[in-house]
Amino acid sequence: MKIDMAIKMVFMAFLAMNMVRTSLCKDFYVTDYGAIPDGKTENSEAFLKAWEESCAYNGSAKFIVPKGTFFLYPVTFAGPCYNHSSPKVVIQGTLNAPSDLKQFPATRMAWIEFRVLSKLVVNGGGIINGQGHQVWPCVPRCGAGRKSNKMPINILFSQVHDTIITDIHSVDSKGVHLKIQRSLNVTVHNIDITAPGNSPNTDGIYSSLTNFLTLTNINIKTGDDCIAIGQGCTNVFIANIHCGPGHGISVGSLGAHENESNVAGLVVKNCTVSNTTNGVRIKTWGGSKPGKASNITFENILMKNVSNPIIIDQGYCQKYKRCSNAPSLIQLENIKYKNIRGTSFDEVGVSFECSKVVPCKGVSLEDIDLKYVGDDEAVTSITSSCTFALGKTMGFQNPNPCLSS
Ligand SMILES: *[C@@H]1O[C@H](CO)[C@@H](O)[C@H](O)[C@H]1NC(C)=O
Ligand SMILES: *[C@@H]1O[C@H](CO)[C@@H](O)[C@H](O)[C@H]1NC(C)=O
Ligand SMILES: *[C@@H]1O[C@H](CO)[C@@H](O)[C@H](O)[C@H]1NC(C)=O
Ligand SMILES: *[C@@H]1O[C@H](CO)[C@@H](O)[C@H](O)[C@H]1NC(C)=O
Ligand SMILES: *[C@@H]1O[C@H](CO)[C@@H](O)[C@H](O)[C@H]1NC(C)=O
Ligand SMILES: *[C@@H]1O[C@H](CO)[C@@H](O)[C@H](O)[C@H]1NC(C)=O
Ligand SMILES: *[C@@H]1O[C@H](CO)[C@@H](O)[C@H](O)[C@H]1NC(C)=O
Ligand SMILES: *[C@@H]1O[C@H](CO)[C@@H](O)[C@H](O)[C@H]1NC(C)=O
Repeated sequence: MKIDMAIKMVFMAFLAMNMVRTSLCKDFYVTDYGAIPDGKTENSEAFLKAWEESCAYNGSAKFIVPKGTFFLYPVTFAGPCYNHSSPKVVIQGTLNAPSDLKQFPATRMAWIEFRVLSKLVVNGGGIINGQGHQVWPCVPRCGAGRKSNKMPINILFSQVHDTIITDIHSVDSKGVHLKIQRSLNVTVHNIDITAPGNSPNTDGIYSSLTNFLTLTNINIKTGDDCIAIGQGCTNVFIANIHCGPGHGISVGSLGAHENESNVAGLVVKNCTVSNTTNGVRIKTWGGSKPGKASNITFENILMKNVSNPIIIDQGYCQKYKRCSNAPSLIQLENIKYKNIRGTSFDEVGVSFECSKVVPCKGVSLEDIDLKYVGDDEAVTSITSSCTFALGKTMGFQNPNPCLSS
C-alpha cells in the first residue's frame, strides 16, 4: 500500500514536471495561422498573428517559417516581448518580397523589420529574397521621395539587444541587405549575402549607432560595400569575411549629416577581398561636419585583384548627391594596417587622401605586400599616394610608403 502510494506520487510528480515543461516551450508555425507557401498568396497577416502570439507567450517560444515559398508584403516584428525575451525566429523556407516598389510605403525603410527586441535569435537556413531585379535599373531615380531616398532594406534590426543572427541567406535585396541600427551586443555569423556585382546600393551589412557588434564567417557578393560601418559604431569586431564582388569593407561614409556620433574601436581580421572596387576603405564626405573615427585596425587581409586595396578618401562624393570641395572635418586617428597582401588592379595600391584641416594622425603600416596585376603595360610598379597623412611604417613595404612623420 505504502509502496503503491509512493509509486503513484512519483508518477504524478513526473506528469507534473512534463506539464511544466510543455507549458514552457511552444512552436508557432506561420502555417497554423493561415500562411500558404505557394509563392503567390500574400502572407503578412498570418505572419503577424503568429508573431503576436509567440511574442506574448509566457515561456520559450519559437516562431517558425517551415519549408516552402512564402510571398510576403513588408512586415514589422516588434517587441518588447514577454519577460523582455523574444521568440526564436526559425526561417527554414524562402521569403519572397514583392518585386514592385508600390507595395512599399514611401516612409518605410525596410521589407522585414525587427524592432525593440532583446535576446533575439534568427536562424533556420532559409532564404530572404528581396526580388530586387525590377527596381535596380531605376536607382537612384525611383528612390526619390522615399525615406532617405533609399530602396527598401531586406532585413532591418533596430533597437535590438543581445541578438544573434546566423544561418540565413539574404538574396537580391532592393537596397541594403542587412542593416543593424541603435543596437547593443549583436552577433552575425555564418550567413551569406548574394546580389549581382552591378546591383546599385546593395550594401551587404550596414550598421550605425551600435555598440558591441561582431560579424564573422560571412560570404558577401554584392553591388556595393560588403560591409559598411557607419556613424556611432563602437567596439566592432569583424573576421573571416569573404567579400567580392562588391565595394570592399568600409568605414563610412561619415559626415553626411549634422551631429553624427563618432566611430571608435573597430578590428577587421582574416578577410579575403576579391575583384572589388576597394579593399579596406575609410570614406568621409567633403564639407562634412566635425567628428572622429579612431582606433581602427585592419589585419591579415588578402586582396585578390582589388582596385584601391588600401584607401582613405576624405573627399568622398557620389555623382547623384551634393558634392563639396570643402575639406572634411572628420578626424581620423590611430588607423593600423598590418599584414595586408595580394594583388591590386590599380597602380596606386595605398591611397591616403586626408583632410587638410584635420590631417590623419597615427596611421601605421606594417608588412604590406601588394603587387600590380592591372592591364596597363606601361605600369612597372605599384605606388602609394598621400595627402595630409601622418604616421609610421614597420616591416616589409610594397609599395613604398608615403606617410609623413
Ligand atoms: C508565467 O509562467 C510562470 C510559470 O510557468 C508562472 O509562475 C507565471 O505566473 C506566469 N506569468 C503570467 C503573467 O501568467
Ligand atoms: C524571465 O527572464 C528571466 C531572466 O532571463 C528568467 O530567469 C525567468 O525565468 C523568466 N521568467 C519567466 C516567467 O519566463
Ligand atoms: C550578448 O548577447 C549574447 C546573446 O544573447 C549573450 O549570450 C551575451 O551574454 C551578451 N553579452 C553581454 C556582455 O551581455
Ligand atoms: C545638432 O545639434 C545641435 C546642438 O545640439 C542642434 O541645435 C541641432 O538642431 C542639431 N542638428 C540636427 C540636424 O539635428
Ligand atoms: C586569424 O588568423 C590567424 C592566423 O591564421 C589565427 O591564428 C587567428 O585565430 C584568426 N583569428 C580569427 C578571429 O579568426
Ligand atoms: C574575379 O572575376 C573574374 C572575372 O569575372 C573571375 O573569373 C574570377 O573567378 C574572379 N576571382 C575571384 C577570386 O572571385
Ligand atoms: C583608442 O585607443 C587608445 C589606446 O589603446 C585609448 O587610450 C583610447 O581611449 C581609445 N580611444 C577611443 C575613442 O576608443
Ligand atoms: C580584375 O578586375 C578587373 C576590374 O574590376 C576586371 O576587369 C578583371 O576581369 C579582373 N581580372 C581577373 C583575372 O579577375
